[in-house]
Amino acid sequence: MRTSLVVGNWKMNGSRAANRALLESMRKEMEAGVVAEVAVCPPFVYLADMESLLQGSVINWGAQNLSHHEMGAYTGEIAPSMLADLGCRFVIIGHSERRTLYGETDSLVAEKAIAAQKVDIIPIICVGETLQEREQNITEQVVERQLNAVLQLAGVNALKKAVIAYEPIWAIGTGRTATPEQAQEVHAFIRGHVAVQNSGIAEELLVLYGGSVKGSNAAQLLAMPDIDGGLIGGASLNAKEFLTICQAAV
Ligand code: G3H
Repeated sequence: MRTSLVVGNWKMNGSRAANRALLESMRKEMEAGVVAEVAVCPPFVYLADMESLLQGSVINWGAQNLSHHEMGAYTGEIAPSMLADLGCRFVIIGHSERRTLYGETDSLVAEKAIAAQKVDIIPIICVGETLQEREQNITEQVVERQLNAVLQLAGVNALKKAVIAYEPIWAIGTGRTATPEQAQEVHAFIRGHVAVQNSGIAEELLVLYGGSVKGSNAAQLLAMPDIDGGLIGGASLNAKEFLTICQAAV
């Protein structure tokens, strides 16, 4: 039996004051009873505030990226051990914005996922196709290629302590979400692909959906058998919307 997970990806948004206000109202509501596992991923510079802002709360936190290097002369980069030092439970890896805007390749994404695991941080590995790829009917090939980069680098055991997030690029921040059936189809494909190598790991693997999830469409998406939660962008900046999504995940 898989538990649900809802992760808020704040992307490059927030301020100390705004984060405090957002988390305060989220905490108040959560204490009234949300059972899904929940995490927020603020920008790096706010991670150090999370320990005090979320003290005693059920909400975990994580980062949006990390370096695949352990430490050293890599100006502007953040080492995995630094994230562990700040109490991160998760790190988002290979988000499509990193892949398309910052040139992250499948193999770099795989290296980052393994670097996170070395310091006991759970990588949330993002996969997903562009609109053009969907229209060319190659969604499964694209997702398979992205998954295989991790499987080839570290084997299927690497997915024991990892989360996959399926995010069709055409649904991110566009208001155009995948239908529950479209999402379910790809989620089932992902689980099936992992099951070929190890059915036990596939059965336990959390596969999140991301792409214009909001309070009004979350319940239908999260009711699908292979959708185990969500990776939420815009709606995670609004406490009420985010909570509605978290409640739908239970
Ligand atoms: O990481 C989150 C995804 O990019 C989804 O973003 O919910 O704003 O579409 P969105």
